[in-house]
Amino acid sequence: MWSTTDIAMMSRAVMLARRGRYTTRPNPNVGCVIVDNQGTIVGEGWHQRAGGPHAEVHAWRMAGDKARGATAYVTLEPCSHYGRTPPCAAGLIEKGLRRVVIAMTDPNPQVAGRGIAMLQAAGIEVSCGLLAAEARQLNPGFLSRMERQRPYVTVKLAASLDGKTALANGESKWITGAAARRDVQRLRALSCAVITGIDTVLADDPSMNVRYSELGYLQQQLSEEALIQPMRVVLDSRCRLPLTARLLQLPGPVLLVSCQPYSAAFMQGLPAQVTCVQLPGADGRVDLAALLQHLGQQCNNVLVEAGATLCGAFVGSMLADELVLYQAPKILGASGRNLLQLPLYEQLSQIPSLQLLEQRKVGADNRLTLKIGD
Ligand SMILES: NC(=O)c1ccc[n+]([C@@H]2O[C@H](COP(=O)([O-])OP(=O)(O)OC[C@H]3O[C@@H](n4cnc5c(N)ncnc54)[C@H](OP(=O)(O)O)[C@@H]3O)[C@@H](O)[C@H]2O)c1
Repeated sequence: MWSTTDIAMMSRAVMLARRGRYTTRPNPNVGCVIVDNQGTIVGEGWHQRAGGPHAEVHAWRMAGDKARGATAYVTLEPCSHYGRTPPCAAGLIEKGLRRVVIAMTDPNPQVAGRGIAMLQAAGIEVSCGLLAAEARQLNPGFLSRMERQRPYVTVKLAASLDGKTALANGESKWITGAAARRDVQRLRALSCAVITGIDTVLADDPSMNVRYSELGYLQQQLSEEALIQPMRVVLDSRCRLPLTARLLQLPGPVLLVSCQPYSAAFMQGLPAQVTCVQLPGADGRVDLAALLQHLGQQCNNVLVEAGATLCGAFVGSMLADELVLYQAPKILGASGRNLLQLPLYEQLSQIPSLQLLEQRKVGADNRLTLKIGD
């Protein structure tokens, strides 16, 4: 059904879409290639930032008159609604495209097949499903938000060979080397929010921001305004956070999530970029499912960077989608703190199922990427 040209052009569109992965949130990553009847690329582009032109617009602007009678390859169904920009399906019709090949339909309820219907009603030949799996991989967070009304959750942990995350006294700086820690900066830059637990804040006083200075290649690639900070989220059921915490002092949004209100004096001392919400769960701790629903209004990808307690709570309640484990060639011994605090399982069939997706050496350490759940 698909020609080699079709496959090559959609592969290029997928590659272009990936260029937006640090900057399009909360929008999806989308790429578009326009090809004339001789198989020559006459226009291409990718969505670069929310509020800016969609991939199709960049591509048809580049193609100009050559878009007439040509084929467009798009990694996500063209939109059919007026958002911050006019609908792309209408634009493709106006520019005179003859055929549109789409990798996957857009699950956004405002689109969901309407873009395809608009194109077909205008007599454009539409085919859908080419490299659909690759297109899905571009947007795990956006798709999760649209399909499950919650973000895609990645739990990150750094551990020794024997799976320990800190010494018995809590010291954990640094188990892994500089290259692995720089890689964590990259994970943060890909995330809309970074979630941590109050006990990590009290033990380490972390900043939890993206230090773009450590990601030189990104600093060169992105404009100053694109170097945005993820929202830092602290789970603090009993309001133990001190006003002196470092993460409160740094620029970028912060969300404090508790089960009870903070004192008036604490609230008065908070900087303007900090907001608070109460999401009490049945066990006296923050309700993680409610938290994800709350974050799902605007966050595609969230990263959990905490100790065994909170990371374990996410994994044990099946609210985490992926585990990124940096494993250092060190042994901390049996007295060290464990990787994940999980419920007491009585049968191996009850433990969370993990699937190894990737294994890579990062500096002196090993990085394992695992899918959680079936
Ligand atoms: N190796 C690594 O990758 C790594 C990363 C980060 C931290 N660490 C180390 O880990 C240690 C801290 O870990 P930790 O396990 O003690 O603490 P943690 O996981 O950072 O935070 C746990 C706290 O979060 C709060 N919380 C709120 N809602 C929760 C929920 N639904 N489920 C679970 N917790 C919830 C609870 O306190 P309240 O009930 O008071 O809210 C809980 O005690 C430190 O030594 C730190 O250096 C290691």
